[in-house]
Amino acid sequence: MTSIPRPPHAVVVPFPSQGHVNPLMHFAKLLAARGFFVTFINTDWMEQRIFKTPNDSAAVSNQLQEQGLQIRFLALPDGLPPDHGRVQAIYEYFQATQKLGPAMVRLLQSTANEAPPITCIVSSCFMSCTHQLATSLVLPRVVFWTFCTSAAIVFANCRMLLEKGYIPINVKEARRAENLITCLPGMIPPLRQTDLPTAFRVEDTADSTFQLMMYESEIQNKADYVLINAFEELEGPEAAEGLSKGYPALPIGPVFLPDFLQATKSSVSVATSLWEEDLDCLQWLQTKAPSSVLYVSFGSIVVMSMEQLHELALGLEASEQPFLWVLRPDISEGKATVLPEGFRERIGERGRIVQWAPQLKVLSHPSVGGFLTHNGWNSTLESISLGVPMIGWPLWAEQFLNGRFCKEIWRIGMDFESRVEDENALVSREEVEKVVRAMMEGPQGKELRKNVARLKEAATKAVMPGGSSYRNLDKFTSDMTARANSQFE
Ligand code: UDX
Repeated sequence: MTSIPRPPHAVVVPFPSQGHVNPLMHFAKLLAARGFFVTFINTDWMEQRIFKTPNDSAAVSNQLQEQGLQIRFLALPDGLPPDHGRVQAIYEYFQATQKLGPAMVRLLQSTANEAPPITCIVSSCFMSCTHQLATSLVLPRVVFWTFCTSAAIVFANCRMLLEKGYIPINVKEARRAENLITCLPGMIPPLRQTDLPTAFRVEDTADSTFQLMMYESEIQNKADYVLINAFEELEGPEAAEGLSKGYPALPIGPVFLPDFLQATKSSVSVATSLWEEDLDCLQWLQTKAPSSVLYVSFGSIVVMSMEQLHELALGLEASEQPFLWVLRPDISEGKATVLPEGFRERIGERGRIVQWAPQLKVLSHPSVGGFLTHNGWNSTLESISLGVPMIGWPLWAEQFLNGRFCKEIWRIGMDFESRVEDENALVSREEVEKVVRAMMEGPQGKELRKNVARLKEAATKAVMPGGSSYRNLDKFTSDMTARANSQFE
């Protein structure tokens, strides 16, 4: 007896933060556009922040359904009190997510009759609870790296880095020693210890965050399949092989780009922003000359001292360049940001300050000519894909690696000299002015703009039919479809 094939069903589980929910939602839409049924699991906290009103997720699901895209949203409590800082208390947050496995099993079991049988669990990196989930349900687990391939290789090889003495890192000594790391797989460029994630900058291995990272790293290696939000042309076709431990490891990014280029059939945009986007800034951008505006944003997590924010403000002012600056309500170490006296009046229409921007629309706006960024991977990849050169101001996690690659390997970025010696040094207003002018007015900025235009073209080609990421996604979807079909034989 032949049975009717049912669509493959992917359960997609992001780590509950902006930098993971964004790419995984784009990925979910890509899968749905290829005929998958997708269950997207948020925490209640995340769901309330991104969908704003109760039942909105059901409404979005219905809109997607009308376009032939099947994505249902499920949510579960993260076990933390409502007023918990979440990503601002990252260690506790990780600990809370690590306990979510059993609740996820129950959630999927209790809603099993609403969906086809599950084919695979796709989780962003650092959601070790999904290993438990996949094991309990006897399903393959796909790890989706929200970092570039080289950073993912670093995270996946913590044990080796520890054994060879590269971590934990004493930053001062590491800088003096200039010990290049060439033992990592995947033919990635030699790394400096200071390129490694900041979680390893601790005094000894007993440090709880260090231990947590080691544990998460081990669990990532227990994947059955690996996907990366990067594209082969960026780090070389061999890089991703460094992530394979006998299973496929495929770069399929930038995952936001097909939807952005409207190369998928969906026109429903699924909101994922944790803060309300200020759309008026797009009108403001309209009033500015081509490539004249510096976009300034530090992503969703990192914070800065008030003193540094003041120097930045005064440097932007002194640069005389138009700027659009995202000042997240919690950027100033949780306190309300107070800008230098008279700053807003003096800046007038030349500068615009918002709490949260529609970043993709901003970066793709013809008036934007540079991005002062913390080099979070999403921001970096978005800037590359939309052709905007960067001034790097990495602060945390794997941002130092991204910043260095932008400057030295892809030659699409610059940085602040004072931070090369000491990333905690206060960047003076004079230095901000100098670097911003170099990016926006000088020959160096022009050169970087040319280089990034080439990478933009490569990213676009990668996600279009026949491109490397498109083919890799084809391979993943056909492998999972074959698995789904075999479930019915
Ligand atoms: C975190 C880590 O900081 C980063 O190092 C890691 O690579 C991913 O996780 P985050 O700080 O949120 O990420 O930065 P980033 O990866 O750049 O993601 C921010 C996302 O928010 C981007 O997709 C960006 O488009 C979006 N964004 C940011 C907005 O939509 N509006 C804004 O105003 C700012």
